[in-house]
Amino acid sequence: MSTAQKQWKVGVAGLGTVGSGLLKFLAERPDFAPAGGRVVVTGVSARSRSRARPVDISALTWFDDPVALATSPETDVFVELIGGSDGPAKAAVEAALKAGKPVVTANKALIAEHGAELAALAEAAGVPLLFEAAVMGGTPAVKMLREAMVGDDVDSVAGILNGTCNFILSEMESGGRAFGDVLAEAQRLGYAESDPTMDIGGFDAAHKITILAALAFGCAPNYAAAEIEGIEQVELLDIKLAKDLGYRIKLVASADRSPDGVAVRVHPSLAPLSHPLAQAGGALNALFIEGRRIGRIYIQGPGAGSGPTAAAVAADIADVMTGAIRPVFQAPAGKLKPFVAVDPSRRVSKAYIRLLVKDQPGVIAAVSETLAESGVSIDSFLQKPVEDAGGVPIVLTTHAIAESVLIDAINRMEKLPAVLERPRLLRIARI
Ligand SMILES: NC(=O)c1ccc[n+]([C@@H]2O[C@H](COP(=O)([O-])OP(=O)(O)OC[C@H]3O[C@@H](n4cnc5c(N)ncnc54)[C@H](OP(=O)(O)O)[C@@H]3O)[C@@H](O)[C@H]2O)c1
Repeated sequence: MSTAQKQWKVGVAGLGTVGSGLLKFLAERPDFAPAGGRVVVTGVSARSRSRARPVDISALTWFDDPVALATSPETDVFVELIGGSDGPAKAAVEAALKAGKPVVTANKALIAEHGAELAALAEAAGVPLLFEAAVMGGTPAVKMLREAMVGDDVDSVAGILNGTCNFILSEMESGGRAFGDVLAEAQRLGYAESDPTMDIGGFDAAHKITILAALAFGCAPNYAAAEIEGIEQVELLDIKLAKDLGYRIKLVASADRSPDGVAVRVHPSLAPLSHPLAQAGGALNALFIEGRRIGRIYIQGPGAGSGPTAAAVAADIADVMTGAIRPVFQAPAGKLKPFVAVDPSRRVSKAYIRLLVKDQPGVIAAVSETLAESGVSIDSFLQKPVEDAGGVPIVLTTHAIAESVLIDAINRMEKLPAVLERPRLLRIARI
């Protein structure tokens, strides 16, 4: 059969936001034939057969077990949209690859935590394993690094990779509301899951930046090496004070390569108000990629949602149909560089430190003295009475300094009698 006539039989496991979005897309686009062949969904799997779906699945073969769908002779391409780093998603993807079937997935947890072993399986079978939708939803970050930038040496990627956190931080600032209030609203609006831990704890962004680091630097993904801090501790007070200093707080995920190794980090960080990352509000995602030859590239777009994510899954199905096979990451699985993590104590950052102190004379002198003893050099200093803050906030920004020195200074300042709580440390993003 020539490519032009071929029917690509697709099995879809997971019929939630993304899976239903994909079936809707294929129903709306019967002309979707990027390589000449037609895409036909032949089988589906989900947890509950009787659940009402936004698309009609009555004509499709139902599989209770996604592994059976993955290995069915009626499946040419297996699409995994269940989610989760282990369990049925992993079992089905492994089964499909071992059976020599191309796999498309949107599952960042699976790729970040088991990417190297799955890449080895895919490459041994000579089939693609594609995951464009896993990072930034419909905004093409994966293909950009895996394909378009493979001729460059990328030294850093940094951005906003979790729309839920970005929405919450944006709403806290615009509405002057506390974290808990905005989270509850985000859950009502469907921007946040009923269990929001993966998002607000920074774990979802860490999965995504782990994948981008592997694609950018040609190393195996190493989720365990990611340094992860979420937004739960971000206070409205810091959002306001940061703004007075000319910054906006964003959950920034970054991966940097240096001669010391690779650093993969997720932290609430300050971005200058005029910077594009500071201006990417609401549920948007945004990413900078820095290549030695190409220079800086910036992309911004929707990072989630049924339509955008399904479009990215469809683009991967199109790639399977065209038959181009590339290594899953930047290099073949057996040739990926080892992931050497930078020693965290050697990292250097500019920082924002906020203290809450008693309103009494001599406090500023004591704080300044402690900082000088620790060897922290101050860039700017702000003392501002804020209503209902429970004390007087003092805010300072530092010049770039080893994080071990900053932590030592925080520990010392916490012990000063006039300091009411542990000083708050936020990094100023290197972007
Ligand atoms: N939502 C987004 O905007 C977005 C964006 C980018 C990437 N992703 C990724 O895409 C994947 C799917 O996300 P989603 O938002 O579509 O999730 P979802 O709405 O929760 O849907 C998950 C689907 O998996 C099915 N499922 C659960 N356990 C199963 C099992 N044991 N066997 C078979 N099916 C099972 C569920 O079945 P029932 O429907 O019967 O319960 C449901 O249809 C995840 O990896 C996610 O990280 C999502």
